[in-house]
Amino acid sequence: MAFRDQFPVLDRLAYLNAGTDGPIPRAAIETARAELDAQGAEGRLYAHFARRFELADQLRAGYARLMNAAPEDVAITSGTSAGLGAVLAGLDIGPGDEIVTSDAEHPGLIGPLLAARERGATVKAVPFAELANAVTASTTLVAASHVSWITGELAPAELAEVPVPVILDGAQGAGAVPVDVKALGCVAYAAAGQKWLCGADGTGMLYLDPEFGERVKTIFPTYFSFEDTGLGLEGRFKASASRFDLPLPREAVALSAGALEVLEAEGLDAILTRAADLTDVFAAKLAEAGYTVAPRARTTLVSFEVEDPEAKREQLLERGVAVRNLPGTPYLRASVGAWNDESDLDCLLEAL
Ligand SMILES: Cc1ncc(COP(=O)(O)O)c(C=O)c1O
Repeated sequence: MAFRDQFPVLDRLAYLNAGTDGPIPRAAIETARAELDAQGAEGRLYAHFARRFELADQLRAGYARLMNAAPEDVAITSGTSAGLGAVLAGLDIGPGDEIVTSDAEHPGLIGPLLAARERGATVKAVPFAELANAVTASTTLVAASHVSWITGELAPAELAEVPVPVILDGAQGAGAVPVDVKALGCVAYAAAGQKWLCGADGTGMLYLDPEFGERVKTIFPTYFSFEDTGLGLEGRFKASASRFDLPLPREAVALSAGALEVLEAEGLDAILTRAADLTDVFAAKLAEAGYTVAPRARTTLVSFEVEDPEAKREQLLERGVAVRNLPGTPYLRASVGAWNDESDLDCLLEAL
């Protein structure tokens, strides 16, 4: 079956919305349904909990492959925001800290930064392209997007060389562009399962460098955080990143693992290349048609100016095209994946 045909929503929409929520493959829906059916038929007994742990480890291994990380350095979270929050809240941050970030971050990172500021840290926001240059002797941490959710620009490669820890918001990175946490030189990378990886809402990943991880306290432990849950107050949290695992629903984890399987069967590298090529073509077509396209890099997002983005978004949906507007900006944003083809892009251009 053609890759595109595995995503039912593409039968009815030019679906260009993976930057918010990716299209779900049919096979992943069937996998999740089977896990739900099993819970209904068998109840939720010991085997159910064993299955939850098994699925979490399966998903962890997949996310680890995706980020070129060791599975023990990856936590299964409820999404990007949860991972960013766990790391920033767990650090001993106070008045001596200066955190460099960009002036175009998503609320998923802005929230933990505001909380850090409440604890006394200084938060310095600079233009996205200036992130590495803005690091000075006073800087203690960088926290910013890997790929800008507004424009689709990539964080400066020089961030890999700055002499302070770098925490990346990979919501628009994982499944969209190559992610190699070692090459990126980051100490933490938080990302989403529901966007470019086509999985369930409420799933995500957190990579944590083991050495840096020793500095991150477990502020909000769950049943999944313990080395051994039977030791009461003598109990200890796991040393590995999985102490930040969240107790996600079995069917959601299965959906995300099933979606990742579909993507890996097609080949992750091939998917990333095809999506980036298609996005480049689309950005060029939009510019040719006279639209102002936001400065971008070789990613899967294209933002372009329209007069009333919110009204335009609704108009486009009536014409079978799903994109989003970015509040507070003049932009509509199209998210282009390997599941799309030129027919979706032509649909959008015509509908505009
Ligand atoms: C750059 C960025 N960061 C964070 C988020 C929040 O992601 P999540 O819903 O996985 O917490 C988003 C979601 O759109 C995003 O684009």
